[in-house]
Amino acid sequence: MPLSKRWTLTRYLIEERRRYPQASGDLNALILDVSLACKAIARIVAFGVLGDSLTHSPAAQAGAVNVQGEVQKPLDVLSNEIFVRMNEWNGHLAGMASEEMDDPLQIPASYSRGKYLLAFDPLDGSSNIDVNVSVGSIFSVLRAPQEVIDSGRDVTEADFLQPGATQVAAGYALYGPTTMLVLTVGNGVAGFTLNPNLGEFVLTHPNIQVPVDTHEFAINTSNSRFWEPPVKRYVDECLAGKTGPRGRDFNMRWIASMVAEAHRILMRGGVFMYPRDTKDPAKPGRLRLLYEANPIGFVMEQAGGRASTGRQPMLGVKPTALHQRIGLVFGSKHEVERIERYHHEPAARDAGTPLFAARSLFRD
Ligand code: AHG
Ligand code: MN
Ligand code: MN
Repeated sequence: MPLSKRWTLTRYLIEERRRYPQASGDLNALILDVSLACKAIARIVAFGVLGDSLTHSPAAQAGAVNVQGEVQKPLDVLSNEIFVRMNEWNGHLAGMASEEMDDPLQIPASYSRGKYLLAFDPLDGSSNIDVNVSVGSIFSVLRAPQEVIDSGRDVTEADFLQPGATQVAAGYALYGPTTMLVLTVGNGVAGFTLNPNLGEFVLTHPNIQVPVDTHEFAINTSNSRFWEPPVKRYVDECLAGKTGPRGRDFNMRWIASMVAEAHRILMRGGVFMYPRDTKDPAKPGRLRLLYEANPIGFVMEQAGGRASTGRQPMLGVKPTALHQRIGLVFGSKHEVERIERYHHEPAARDAGTPLFAARSLFRD
């Protein structure tokens, strides 16, 4: 299709806004600033070690430890800085929260404050950056509590603790062979490819739908001894293939960049699991609710997929902490429903059932 016939991200947002004649345009402007942050990060990722930004930016001191106890890579820090700088000035935000910031970020007094909250993982999959494998950025837009908007007071952690179902918009950028932005404003999911000549995101994947069935799963099997019985059962049944209860072979993928797995699943179906496990009792899951599970969950559900903790719909969870971790299962609807069913079946909770004893490939 010629470029002149394709919609830009700006046009898509304007056409979406027509559905709300009273809308101010603040959300659109905010999303465009988020997309600009993603374009800036995409350039830095594309230059890799050739780029100056990582060595010369004061923001990019490596080796610090974030609130999660994880060592920050220079690109984690720099990406966070880019998200903050591109969004703090625009007057649309009451505050921001990030994987890389212990506390909510206040909008400086020199700028005006707005009605939205932005939560983000500035660089997802950062362990892959050194090996030139796809990484991305994930973002979630919430409405600030009315009292925050009216008073203009500083934001607190509690202001962000809203269930995922209340998200106004969410999405991710994927820095892969091409840079893409995948977005939902609550009316389906649209995918945009960055045209590097124009520096514009161009609508290439309208109305993305996740196939409801799949024979492809993604899980880090090195954690299998820590899995709960329903997860063991599900994976065992997939691995048993044609000769097992599922009656057909399954395929497995693990990129270790959730954002890239989410994109693969949006494009061709699949199921992703980073379930609650017993590896570290202090961490009920690996991924974070507010800026990983919820935005990806919103995108999945808007594309006809499903996102769950394994026990309940992800978007219904009432968060209890800004950096809360949670078990996450998402992707093709029928498989996610099956995994939820296994969590609810009493038999599935009994690791001693014949199914596990006889077939488990992960038996202790
Ligand atoms: P982040 O780089 O933001 O810390 O997130 C990495 C996450 C996620 O993207 C990925 O699925 C998972 O960590 C990989 O975990 P393992 O190292 O256990 O495979
Ligand atoms: Mn992440
Ligand atoms: Mn990250």
